[in-house]
Amino acid sequence: MKTKNVIVTMAASLFLLACSAALDIPTETNLEKGKAIYPDLTLAQLQEGKKVYEEKCTLCHKAKNPKHFTEKTFSQTIPAMINKASKKGITFTENEKEVMMRYLKTMNIE
Ligand code: HEC
Repeated sequence: MKTKNVIVTMAASLFLLACSAALDIPTETNLEKGKAIYPDLTLAQLQEGKKVYEEKCTLCHKAKNPKHFTEKTFSQTIPAMINKASKKGITFTENEKEVMMRYLKTMNIE
């Protein structure tokens, strides 16, 4: 019985771990790739963008992995989400929107 409990607990922990997989931390390699879209991009902007995303987009769901975003996610879903968030009192400054988009689009590059 005890062994079974341990196994159940371990399985549950693994499941939780897999579900809360942290977002990728931007690296120099990401920075170089991102510069193809944003020539003046900095690592500080990517780090700031990640922070904004994690702090402001997690009220209703966890921060979704930008790797799987499509053109439509960027052109339609995210603007709609920013709108949704503002209705819940979570507002973005122009700079916050900009660095968050820079982070998401950069981390979306293969
Ligand atoms: C007021 C609640 C709320 C807030 C705040 C919110 N979302 Fe969402 N979001 C939803 C719901 C509901 C869905 C649809 C169900 C799901 O996929 O979890 C969704 C889905 C998504 C999807 C997936 C859509 C798809 O094409 O599969 C993305 C990407 C997304 N949100 C990004 C964001 C971003 C970026 C922010 C911050 C700007 C944000 N969300 C803030 C409620 C919210």
